[in-house]
Formats: sequence, structure tokens, C-alpha cells
Amino acid sequence: ARLVVLVSGSGTNLQALLDAIAADPGGYGARIVAVGADRTGIAGLERAEKAGLPTFVVRVGDHATRDAWDRALAEAVAAYEPDLVVSAGFMKIVGKEFLARFGGRLVNTHPALLPSFPGAHGVRDALAHGVKVTGCTVHFVDDGVDTGPIIAQGVVEILPDDTEEALHERIKEVERRLLVDVVGRLARDGYRIEGRKVLTP
Ligand code: GRF
Repeated sequence: ARLVVLVSGSGTNLQALLDAIAADPGGYGARIVAVGADRTGIAGLERAEKAGLPTFVVRVGDHATRDAWDRALAEAVAAYEPDLVVSAGFMKIVGKEFLARFGGRLVNTHPALLPSFPGAHGVRDALAHGVKVTGCTVHFVDDGVDTGPIIAQGVVEILPDDTEEALHERIKEVERRLLVDVVGRLARDGYRIEGRKVLTP
């Protein structure tokens, strides 16, 4: 399967996918054909370049409207003919055009146990709320924010003196393994989405 991965930051989830594929190119059942971002100058793009992958950047500020950006991002991704698009720390909400083209084969990873704590500050929100456990969620993207059908989740305990950074780092350790496992299974075994259910053979 052909993967396009979208990043906005350090790209450690991308790196986990790159490492898993490099460790077992034949067995993993998917390969990354391009990495896209909404901004330049991020480690995620450096990781892609180091791996010899094509990259592209589609910045909101370069487009007259949000819809124009959304269409440009969809076209940039479509050029690589992905079977699956993976949003791994991509910090923009895609719109109608993008979903029309990739809905149903666009997965996102979120650093909280959805439906709790959606949005851009899931780790901070969980900490502030005082929950005892949080975690990460890999889900299909629908037209909401972090509301699509859930594929898998991992649980992480919150420690008494946790800071947002320390907690997020512990979540990312679980998240990277979860994302590598989910993407590989979806790519190798296929899946069906029925309403909110994700069915795999
Ligand atoms: C991940 O925890 C992701 O869930 C969140 O931002 C983080 C991105 O980390 N949206 P990285 O860029 O993959 O290191």
C-alpha cells in the first residue's frame, strides 16, 4: 500500500513508521511515498528528506481562502496516488474537498482517549481536568474535529507531578507503537467502516 504522511512538527510518529518499514520492507505491507506539511522548517520534513522521500508544503497563508488551501493540499496528496493518508501530528483541519477525495482512507492519531479532550491541546486538557488515565487514539477522520470512527486506543497513566511535556512524551511512546501497528494492519489486511465501527478481517 502507498502511504502519504502529513506532519506539522517533530515527526517522531513519521519516524516510527519509517523505522518499522525499514526493518521489514516486505512484511510491513506499506511504504511511504511522500511526506507533506503545512509549514517549512520542521524536523518532520528533515526526517523525510533524510529518508530520501519526496516532500511538499502547502501553507494556508499562500492561498486566498481556506477552501483554496484545502483543494491545493488535496491535489498535492493526490499526485502521489496514496492508498492511505496518515495525519501524524498534522495540525490543520482538512475541509470538504480533502474529505471528498480521501475520506475513508485518512487516519489521524490524537494524544488523548477520544471522545475526551479533542482538539489541539488534548494532553494539556487531560492534565488540567485531573483524569487519572489518558492515552492516544488512532481514528478515521470525518468532517468533525477528532470525531471519526475509532480504530485503536492506548492507555497511559497520569503521574502526580506530570508536566504536559513529560506526559506527552510518555503518550507518544505508546502512540508511535499504536500507529505503526494500525497502519500496517489496515494496509495488509484491509478494513471496512460501517457507521462508527471499523471492521478488520
Ligand atoms: C502527536 O502526539 C500527535 O498525536 C499530536 O502531536 C504529536 C505529534 O508528534 N497531534 P510528532 O510530530 O509525530 O513527533
